[in-house]
Amino acid sequence: MEPINLDWGKETSQNYCKDSAKLIKNDYLHWAIRIHEKNIGIPHPKIADIGCGPGFLSFELNKLLSGKYYFVDSSKDMVNFAKQEAKKNDIDAEFIISPAENPALPDNSVDIVICKHILLSLSGITSCLENIYRILADGGCVNIIDANPQSSKLMARVISWYAKMTVSKERAEKSWNAYLNGISHANVVQEMNRIGFKEVNVSFHFPMAYFITATK
Ligand SMILES: C[S@@+](CC[C@H](N)C(=O)[O-])C[C@H]1O[C@@H](n2cnc3c(N)ncnc32)[C@H](O)[C@@H]1O
Repeated sequence: MEPINLDWGKETSQNYCKDSAKLIKNDYLHWAIRIHEKNIGIPHPKIADIGCGPGFLSFELNKLLSGKYYFVDSSKDMVNFAKQEAKKNDIDAEFIISPAENPALPDNSVDIVICKHILLSLSGITSCLENIYRILADGGCVNIIDANPQSSKLMARVISWYAKMTVSKERAEKSWNAYLNGISHANVVQEMNRIGFKEVNVSFHFPMAYFITATK
């Protein structure tokens, strides 16, 4: 499938950050709890948030799991926003403007990778997944959250309508677009198995999202 060339320039990034702030309790907190459940037991982990956007997922996770957070995104505007938000949070953070396909982090250097809603923006998932594997330390865990294109069309319409009512028209369009063009969980799992990830597990949350976890 052809990639969607989403422009993550200043205006799109600003709108996304503004809209995302309205979803902290109903979306980011939910995922932070799920990720925390999967990653209990690692003391003060190093965590890379690949395609971090505004950083809200890491800020929520940090309240449950204190560690060193690396905010990685290819958009300078997104990273700048996350940097500003980080000042309001008590978080040990480093900010890296870098592509998911080759994040500027050393091999085997992080314990946890989180990656939420970025697959659609990539020109291919393979190099992103290979690099997640590269930067994870042995035994480290990856947590991928993305839109499920196999969920019910009716439900996707309901979610999009709800986003329009509660967040914005732009967010509703993004939600519908993610449903129509999402990368299927089966493709992601197949690539992860090929790369060598272990314990690859898929679960479905909310009407329109999948959650894939795996270890190195
Ligand atoms: C839909 S937003 C998700 C942001 C964040 N993970 C969240 O859930 O709020 C997609 C993010 O991926 C970033 N992005 C797009 N292409 C990227 C790439 N090739 N490498 C790294 N980040 C990328 C965008 O700048 C944007 O911040």
